[in-house]
Amino acid sequence: MRSLKGVEVKGKRVLLRTSLNVPILPDGSVGDEFRLKRDLPTIEFLANEGAKIILVGYLGRKGETLAPVATALQKLLPAIKISFTSDPVQSVGAHIEQLPQGECLMLENMRRENGEESDDPALVAELAKLADLFVDDAFAEAHRAYASDWGVAKLLPSYAGFLMEEEVARLSPALTPPAGALAIVGGAKFETKQPLLEKLLGTYPEILLGGALATDLLKARGMPVGASLTSKDPVPVSLAEDERIILPIDLVVENASGVSRTIHTGDVRTDERIVDAGPATIAAWVEKIKNAKFVLWNGPLGVYEKGYVAGTDALAKAITESSCVAVLGGGDTAAALAQFTFDPARVFISTGGGAMLEFLAQGGSLPGVDVLKN
Ligand code: 3PG
Repeated sequence: MRSLKGVEVKGKRVLLRTSLNVPILPDGSVGDEFRLKRDLPTIEFLANEGAKIILVGYLGRKGETLAPVATALQKLLPAIKISFTSDPVQSVGAHIEQLPQGECLMLENMRRENGEESDDPALVAELAKLADLFVDDAFAEAHRAYASDWGVAKLLPSYAGFLMEEEVARLSPALTPPAGALAIVGGAKFETKQPLLEKLLGTYPEILLGGALATDLLKARGMPVGASLTSKDPVPVSLAEDERIILPIDLVVENASGVSRTIHTGDVRTDERIVDAGPATIAAWVEKIKNAKFVLWNGPLGVYEKGYVAGTDALAKAITESSCVAVLGGGDTAAALAQFTFDPARVFISTGGGAMLEFLAQGGSLPGVDVLKN
């Protein structure tokens, strides 16, 4: 990818696409700053080099305002002034004219713009008029081909930001793992993870499957899953029968009254839902992590948000204590791992949810990555 390093940005208007898509709490504040913190090095670099920074990104799917994200970012970057405008793209030219060097102006949620998701040429042209060059740091949205990334990157001189570069550099080894590598896939939505599972089976000796994905495979293998939610799409026979996909040997289940118990896989009652892997499974998988040189892990093992954290926490702890190189990520995973301290030289936590899955499933190709390549 074309790197930002060495590019002359002083006095230039730089359109910086970052991932601003963070959870917002009921009180309107930002619930998790992980992505914002990862956005800082590129913003700081551009500000220190004297660029006029126009920050663009999106939030949620219902046109939620980015105002609280601007407030949170300002707190993280007290030395750099961050203003916010809720004006639409075609009306922000005057703000940008007055933007001093080294300051940022964050634009409102790009998903409020009609042509954002459809990569409308009129919106792309409006965005391109605002800036002299484009920097894309939004790896987490690089699987989308929207006006504010894919579209504008084709019109302006465009470069990868530092986070984008780091994501691609640190995730790429997971595409061609060393011998003795281990893949762990959890979370939900079998249909979105099927391409990843198929791809990983080509390069990893085995995949440990947890979360709701494991429930889908248990069902496909004829095991009882009680009242657990399962994917509507059937699991293909080729995956269901693949013995390299390892499922939990014991489970934690919960009944409708909220009473939980640990059982052997196969003993789920009709009124019970599977909520986590059981202790025997966790112990066996921790052992596998200890012996692995490289671990790829996407998606939590249990219903983390309901407090079923034992499986996820035990695997995370095992990674902190092992000497493996690890690549972690996927939607809720980063939040679930926030309490652990990983050695950043050895363990990489991706900001990508869907983007990480697609990057791995597509062999390292994503629209927002490919468009930045020479
Ligand atoms: C994510 O949270 O995975 C990305 O920001 C993409 O969000 P989206 O699925 O709403 O496009």
